[in-house]
Amino acid sequence: MLRSVVFLPVIFIQWSCALPTKWKPDPINNRPIIGILTQEVNDHVMKPFGKTYIPASYVKYIESGGSRVVPIRLTQSTAEYEKIFRSINGLLFIGGSSNLETSNFARVARIFYRLALKANDAGDFFPIWGTCLGMQLLTVLVAGENLLTKTPAENMSLPLNLTTEAFSSRMFEGFSSNLMNALSQEALTGNFHHYGVTVETFKDNDKLQSFFSILSTNKAENGATFVSTMEGKTYPFYGVQWHPEVSRFQWDPKLTFPHSPDAVRVASLLAEFFVNEVYCCRRNLHYFSQPEEEAMSLIYNYTPTYTGNFTGYEQIYFF
Ligand SMILES: *[C@@H]1O[C@H](CO)[C@@H](O)[C@H](O)[C@H]1NC(C)=O
Ligand SMILES: *[C@@H]1O[C@H](CO)[C@@H](O)[C@H](O)[C@H]1NC(C)=O
Ligand SMILES: *[C@@H]1O[C@H](CO)[C@@H](O)[C@H](O)[C@H]1NC(C)=O
Repeated sequence: MLRSVVFLPVIFIQWSCALPTKWKPDPINNRPIIGILTQEVNDHVMKPFGKTYIPASYVKYIESGGSRVVPIRLTQSTAEYEKIFRSINGLLFIGGSSNLETSNFARVARIFYRLALKANDAGDFFPIWGTCLGMQLLTVLVAGENLLTKTPAENMSLPLNLTTEAFSSRMFEGFSSNLMNALSQEALTGNFHHYGVTVETFKDNDKLQSFFSILSTNKAENGATFVSTMEGKTYPFYGVQWHPEVSRFQWDPKLTFPHSPDAVRVASLLAEFFVNEVYCCRRNLHYFSQPEEEAMSLIYNYTPTYTGNFTGYEQIYFF
């Protein structure tokens, strides 16, 4: 396999976990692979199809940023997860519904989270993105406790109340001022959640407060103000309580998915950001040691099932 980066002098791959400055001639991975952690099937209409799943919209989201996808099962050994970790360039925690402390989803996430912390501390840059439940999971992992309370915003599109930090953030760096304007005024973000972390809880928690910057907040249906977008201050970890993948890849007319050109633009830019940007997955140089093993691990080995008329997802990968 062609991996010219391997021959670069060691000095370039020893950046610290502090985010890189841009002028450095960074080694870039042109064949990135992002792991997506599967989730237990809890919904009874999905049970006949498999025990774990990934909605295809998340796969398309990552693929649209220019990466390949490896699904990560929930029943492997720690040694196997360590091997997968050494083979992938970033990780996505999907939305859905799962216990954030006791499920296998949470257990495997914790293994990867610890590996990612350790890797970043050692200068081995490894990004993680959490969407909806995945963002909630990141808060549980960082805080070491479940701080979620009811912050319902179910089937609602919302503009983001952007913080000052958003304007100097990495996540929104590629957004034009017009798009930032639209993001704060038009309902470009699809929300489908009952729980979240309130701004108050977040600010009262030293671990969350020192780990993440709040990039946006929103008001829930019950009046609570929740954190809707966050990024790690020094670690390349990102969380959105809303669903960028639905704007381009989910179309159920019974649900309010934002499909306007600006909503599509926001989702495209964030997918590209996670895969491409100088801070993200292309900076990671992990790879599968055997091409056959890589080929066997990729999502291309699986066929999504059409579930359009009963789940809200057109297609789902079941495992
Ligand atoms: C947006 O957040 C600020 C504080 O960061 C708050 O003062 C303001 O009321 C919020 N606006 C909305 C529309 O929620
Ligand atoms: C979602 O919201 C839309 C628009 O408000 C509404 O027409 C639709 O019935 C809602 N769907 C569900 C499942 O609540
Ligand atoms: C969904 O479509 C399939 C194939 O057309 C059909 O067999 C099934 O009954 C439908 N399910 C629902 C809930 O409408």
